[in-house]
Amino acid sequence: MEQKKITSATVRADFNDPIAVAHYARAAHFLGLWASERLLIERFFPDKTAPLLEAGCGAGRATVGLWHLGYTNLTAFDFAAELVEQARFLAEERGASSIRFLVADATALSSAALQPARKVGEGGPKPRVTVDVFAGALFLFNGLMQIPGRENRRTALCELHRVCAPGAPLLFTSHDRDHSPTERAMWRLETERWVRGQQDPRLVEFGDRYFEDEVGRTFMHLPDRREILEDLAATGWRHAFDALRTEVARESKAVRDFSDECRFWLAQKM
Ligand SMILES: C[S@@+](CC[C@H](N)C(=O)[O-])C[C@H]1O[C@@H](n2cnc3c(N)ncnc32)[C@H](O)[C@@H]1O
Repeated sequence: MEQKKITSATVRADFNDPIAVAHYARAAHFLGLWASERLLIERFFPDKTAPLLEAGCGAGRATVGLWHLGYTNLTAFDFAAELVEQARFLAEERGASSIRFLVADATALSSAALQPARKVGEGGPKPRVTVDVFAGALFLFNGLMQIPGRENRRTALCELHRVCAPGAPLLFTSHDRDHSPTERAMWRLETERWVRGQQDPRLVEFGDRYFEDEVGRTFMHLPDRREILEDLAATGWRHAFDALRTEVARESKAVRDFSDECRFWLAQKM
């Protein structure tokens, strides 16, 4: 029987699965921001009152972490409604009810009524603003790479570009297929599988992985550095910085148990 390709519906269903929801909710409650995230966020997003947009917020691990760091104008969205509900609970529990959470797909932001969170005391009718409104955007912990299909990832980059103001920074992470000799050896074997046509038939492109472990099923595209540089250039983002997480900060064991090595990317809207 022919196996179906992974689609965004597959990924959304995997993230709405109770096992994944419990995993991300636990991290949001007990882990918070990684040391590397904290450092780069404070470096590249110096204005804590500026309207920021977080894509793929999950259960609010980074969103609520941003609020604890003093960021006051936060809008966060994810396409997995169960995770967004967890994020709302957590924000309420921490007294961070000014954070605006939405269920939205990063590849189709035009259908979401995106607007910066209101400042305390701001009244009047809510404008429906969908372009140039955010002073910065984040897509942390590889969320962008969980969109199947390069064209779809580029669409998400275009969508974030559209809703950000000129010059706005975008911080995101990906894996890096070339980051270690083991990784390079593994991908050489995978190349041979693709040449022979023996790759997992559910995968969309070379670089994709779809695996199952104790936190459920995970789709992930692992790019090389060149691919990301090309995607940024093709979608109107200027590459400003990238570094492996281990080059940015030493993470606690809890963070390393939760997440692998990754590459941070900082781009600016041209
Ligand atoms: C690895 S999780 C990270 C969640 C959270 N940012 C964290 O660090 O705990 C990636 C998130 O990206 C979200 N995501 C993936 N594709 C998306 C899309 N097209 N639109 C919105 N969210 C998406 C997933 O639902 C998931 O919550």
